[in-house]
Amino acid sequence: MDQHTPLQATATSQRFEFSAPLELAEARRDMVSSPTLAINEAVSRRRAEGKETLHLGFGEAIFPLHPALRQALAEAIESTGYAPVAGVLKLRQAIAGYMERTRGISCSAEQVVVGPGSKPLLYALLQVLEGDVLVPRPSWVSYGPQIRLAGWQVVPVATDPADHHRLTPEALSDAVTAAHASGAKPRVLIVNSPSNPTGGMLAEEDVAVLGAWARAHGITIISDEIYAELAHGWRPHVSPARFYPEGSIITGGLSKAFSAGGWRLGYAILPAGERGAQLGKALRALASEIWSAAATPIEKAAIVAFTPNTDLETYVRRSARIHGYVTHALYQTLIELGVACPKPAAGFYLYPDFAPWRGALVNLGVTTGQQLAQYLLDEWAIATLPGVAFGEEPDALRLRLSTSHLSIVSTGSAPKEQAAELWQLLAQADALPVPGEVGQPVGPDLPELAKAQLRWREVIGYFNSLA
Ligand SMILES: Cc1ncc(COP(=O)(O)O)c(C=O)c1O
Repeated sequence: MDQHTPLQATATSQRFEFSAPLELAEARRDMVSSPTLAINEAVSRRRAEGKETLHLGFGEAIFPLHPALRQALAEAIESTGYAPVAGVLKLRQAIAGYMERTRGISCSAEQVVVGPGSKPLLYALLQVLEGDVLVPRPSWVSYGPQIRLAGWQVVPVATDPADHHRLTPEALSDAVTAAHASGAKPRVLIVNSPSNPTGGMLAEEDVAVLGAWARAHGITIISDEIYAELAHGWRPHVSPARFYPEGSIITGGLSKAFSAGGWRLGYAILPAGERGAQLGKALRALASEIWSAAATPIEKAAIVAFTPNTDLETYVRRSARIHGYVTHALYQTLIELGVACPKPAAGFYLYPDFAPWRGALVNLGVTTGQQLAQYLLDEWAIATLPGVAFGEEPDALRLRLSTSHLSIVSTGSAPKEQAAELWQLLAQADALPVPGEVGQPVGPDLPELAKAQLRWREVIGYFNSLA
């Protein structure tokens, strides 16, 4: 029998302060899910309740998997052993070659680190790099939370909606001055061109100026190029690493160009040289303690994506063409309705501003972007994300619209049929006009796109009637 005396019990309880289990760390008590994932769940709930919803809230490339990738994954399925922390060598070699072909950037396999998506790699980079982080306002929902989780301060850099939210050296210098005045020490800048949420892309001369500015200030650039392959065709993508190779890190992956977000495969390209090698060592050490490696079969299949293959390159080019067609069609509708919106250059996002209707919206109890998004979801069944999720002031009436789900050819068809329809759409893509060059694009009838155009006409018509 256990002979615990009252004396022993007292000695034990004195050593530990009594508390309930599952207590959250104080710094994590207010954490909430990423708004993009939250809106996706809200839409799924609405649909499960039988409420039709126009899903402009979640940016997910929806084209069917390319058969070359499917076959490569099937062949690699028995690879059950762990991959090296930085990724299998053949994949890192293929990614290095891909950088040369697609970005004109030469790098070696040693400079490549593969991970389970670019998102954890971005976080790992923020963990190992020194300093507070300059982030354009607006910018992707996860940068701010990741920076804070890593223990740094977010240093917002102002952008001008009337100037397509361009990142300028003047705004960067202003942000650094303000940061220093408040005790922050920015050493890192996140550049996301093409941008989520604006859909904009920096012109080559702006990228060159940015590289020169970062070099002059000893700032590391993390260039998130996850949408680089999805340029719509009227402006080429240029990486800051072209102008500032010694201080730029590129991140990218399979999620957007290869419509394979669920495969969770991303990469980081580190600078060459001694300092780049030190960064690589730290990044691999961190990865080894957290995720060990990306999934081996996925890594092996991904070799195919980054190895020269005309058919896959055509697939990516055509996906970009369709994203461009759909995004510009909705952009044209908004512009015709008098909604200010930066012209999209890549990817599948629009970032319109509803400020002209601010007075009318007050009558509906709407004074913030969050309220506007909620109102549109409740009253018009349109799912969007408010600017505040992208670091904007709460009263900004800008919303991010994702057009990626508007490429669906027919609603309600089974997944297999939908895939076949999307393949047909991809086959027609080369005939589509380059957006922005020929006015209103003409192309295939897409019911979700037509629904979105009609719904916005109705919404703006109603807002006008209130004014
Ligand atoms: C700007 C941006 N960066 C990074 C990511 C993350 O991509 P991944 O699937 O590689 O983690 C996303 C995904 O939505 C994104 O929009």
